[in-house]
Amino acid sequence: MFNFSPNTAILAILAACAHGHGVLNKPSPRITGPVQKALCGSAVTTALEKDIAGPIEDALAKADANYKCNAYLCRGYQYEDNLDNVKVVSVGDNLVFHVDLIAGHHPGWANMSAVDLGTNTLIGDALKTWDEWPISGSNEDIDFNVTIPDSLRTPCNEPGKCVLQWYWWSNSNKQTYESCLDFYVEA
Ligand SMILES: *[C@@H]1O[C@H](CO)[C@@H](O)[C@H](O)[C@H]1NC(C)=O
Ligand SMILES: *[C@@H]1O[C@H](CO)[C@@H](O)[C@H](O)[C@H]1NC(C)=O
Repeated sequence: MFNFSPNTAILAILAACAHGHGVLNKPSPRITGPVQKALCGSAVTTALEKDIAGPIEDALAKADANYKCNAYLCRGYQYEDNLDNVKVVSVGDNLVFHVDLIAGHHPGWANMSAVDLGTNTLIGDALKTWDEWPISGSNEDIDFNVTIPDSLRTPCNEPGKCVLQWYWWSNSNKQTYESCLDFYVEA
């Protein structure tokens, strides 16, 4: 007997749609590497890599005893794995970003902030906030820019001190999406 069940296919599609998906794709954000694998464990790292635009919570569901990083800071991606991808900026520079929104039927809010990597705290106010994200039909969700304020000059004066973190919290399914870009402000 022919065994194909259309219901199985439909269920698979529905399961895929239950998650939002989003990731910064321009400029290229932080990625994984051996330092992350050592700190976060391969179970969590593999889960994050299977779905680079997926929610952090899904990967954390796989956490085992080797999980010793903080996946909520840049998805656990590490500066040491991204030494070749540190953006050099000046105060007043305008950086243009593009987010790949793969599935976005899960409204929440988003922001782009500078994060102090030493303390995992935000530096000043968010550089950009969206009270509602994504707003259907708006390109401002996925194509936006931020201007580097003077307040980042001192705390972010060397590589490895700061990232710009794009953060989307999907309220309806309680999931977190993040992308980070290493940067420093040149004197
Ligand atoms: C921005 O996102 C951070 C997470 O990086 C969150 O803790 C903070 O509350 C958000 N800020 C605003 C103004 O929404
Ligand atoms: C930056 O964003 C603003 C809207 O927030 C827009 O008016 C402006 O054209 C953008 N600039 C660039 C260089 O993309």
